Amino acid sequence: MKYIIIGVILIMTLLVSKLFVALDLLHFNKYTTRLDSNKQNSKLNQLEKTGKSLYLVYCSSCHGYDGKGNKEKAQDHTHRMSKKSIIDVINNGANNFKSLYPSGMPSGLINQDEAEKVATFMVNGFKGPAPKSWIICASCHDNTGEGIPLIAPNIKTYSDELVETVLKNGKQGVIGVMPSDFKHRLNKNQMKAIAAYIRSLGK
Ligand code: HEC
Ligand code: HEC
Repeated sequence: MKYIIIGVILIMTLLVSKLFVALDLLHFNKYTTRLDSNKQNSKLNQLEKTGKSLYLVYCSSCHGYDGKGNKEKAQDHTHRMSKKSIIDVINNGANNFKSLYPSGMPSGLINQDEAEKVATFMVNGFKGPAPKSWIICASCHDNTGEGIPLIAPNIKTYSDELVETVLKNGKQGVIGVMPSDFKHRLNKNQMKAIAAYIRSLGK
């Protein structure tokens, strides 16, 4: 008899706790974005998870909780630069990342027609035959587009180095202004974690 009572109590406790879990899930279901973010979370490794927490605190106000750039108010991090941003840099040059590339990128290296072709090649992931003017860009950005240390940044992927440069120098481009005060707020390891998370957004 004693065992039956203990058994019944055990089963009751189990059922009640299951009920709480179920209620919790029901409540959670209302927040589909949170649920989605939870699904995505399980695919992230530890470094990316750390990066995600930091991103939500420091970056999502401008870049959006999904990293898609908040309706073009900031860079969409699910891919590297857009055609519009690339053509803007080709036409106007750039000198944002002064700490690493003090002389910047010269403007007007190629004409509009060629700029259009090079930008298309870049946004399509550097696949297929490169347009003939790419050779000019490759002289600084490397044939892979992954950049050459101290000469030109990675324009193909969000490498650790690129993200660190952006965080230290800020950026002013065709989309808007990204602040430079993160150099005082984030350390190198945190920057690496954020870079890993940004790369995971593009997968
Ligand atoms: C003389 C070397 C040099 C050449 C040639 C060159 N670049 Fe650059 N490029 C740079 C440097 C340096 C930067 C970093 C500019 C900065 O500090 O904002 C840069 C930046 C860029 C950026 C912006 C990256 C970002 O994250 O903001 C793009 C896009 C780019 N280059 C594309 C090209 C293309 C396309 C070509 C060929 C037409 C080209 N570059 C040729 C040196 C070069
Ligand atoms: C005040 C708004 C704001 C905040 C906060 C902000 N950004 Fe940005 N960020 C921007 C804008 C605007 C751009 C686009 C600049 C352009 O290309 O015109 C940008 C661009 C970028 C780029 C692309 C740079 C490139 O060269 O292509 C990266 C990487 C980036 N941000 C990372 C971050 C990270 C990481 C954080 C958080 C630690 C962050 N940003 C916080 C506004 C912001």
